[in-house]
Amino acid sequence: MDLKGVVLAGGTGSRLFPLTKVTNKHLLPVGLAPMIWHPLWKLKQAGIEEILIVTGTEHMGDVVGLMGSGKDFGCRFTYKVQDEAGGIAQALGLAENFAGGGPLCVILGDNIFQDALDAEAAAFRAQGRGARILLKKVADPQRYGVAEVRDGRVVAVEEKPAAPKSSLAVTGIYFYDGAVFDIIRGVRPSGRGELEITDVNNAYISRGELSFGTFRGWWTDAGTFPSLAHANALVAAQAADDVAADVAADDQVPFPHIERKL
Ligand code: DAU
Repeated sequence: MDLKGVVLAGGTGSRLFPLTKVTNKHLLPVGLAPMIWHPLWKLKQAGIEEILIVTGTEHMGDVVGLMGSGKDFGCRFTYKVQDEAGGIAQALGLAENFAGGGPLCVILGDNIFQDALDAEAAAFRAQGRGARILLKKVADPQRYGVAEVRDGRVVAVEEKPAAPKSSLAVTGIYFYDGAVFDIIRGVRPSGRGELEITDVNNAYISRGELSFGTFRGWWTDAGTFPSLAHANALVAAQAADDVAADVAADDQVPFPHIERKL
């Protein structure tokens, strides 16, 4: 069974209030496209066209209005409603029927990054089971899940630690096999009342089934005012580099043919 994609676009977006009072965070602009188009484009470029989008009740209509069936994107979209923002692992739990027992590439809808995902997808396919996460060295690891790596293996992940054991952030791009749903059923709410994806990753570590890759290019989330501004700056700089490097116009922005149609 080949990889299907999941983009998680629920949550409250409270750190971007009032921008997110009437708009879903993932519909805000990053460069020339809505935020959520960036992770969708990465999936599509990696050949993953069967994609589930999870979002909350308040914004599902807007998200479907923007994206439709996926036909214009060369993809097939399925939608699932997350009734309340119960955490990333809870949102992912809604993908069980969609996954049908097969493997998934899961991306948080506010993660914007440079590298292509095909090599990572190939590494996960070769691994055959378990999970694979992607790490990125950052200056402010206490904002993220942080990986402790020993002898070439991730031995633990800590969610937003006050005293991080490394500067390696766990990015919001994850590969999971079909066992992830049983693992999620065993996860209990954290101090902030959410089912944490970090607990899921630690469960895979306990099974000895978590591998990792490392991003070479830039990566950011876009869920706070500084990081949203940073994401826009990175995408603008990338666009300028692409023009200078003569990258084909259609490879410079997500889904350019749709932008032209609009
Ligand atoms: O960006 C990477 C980080 O994302 C990781 O390093 C952390 O381990 C992970 O917990 C997460 O941290 P955040 O605190 O930044 O997650 P946030 O609550 O902002 O949610 C990120 C995305 O996940 C959001 O854009 C949409 C999706 N989400 C989140 C929640 C809480 C949902 O779809 N449903 C939810 O209930």
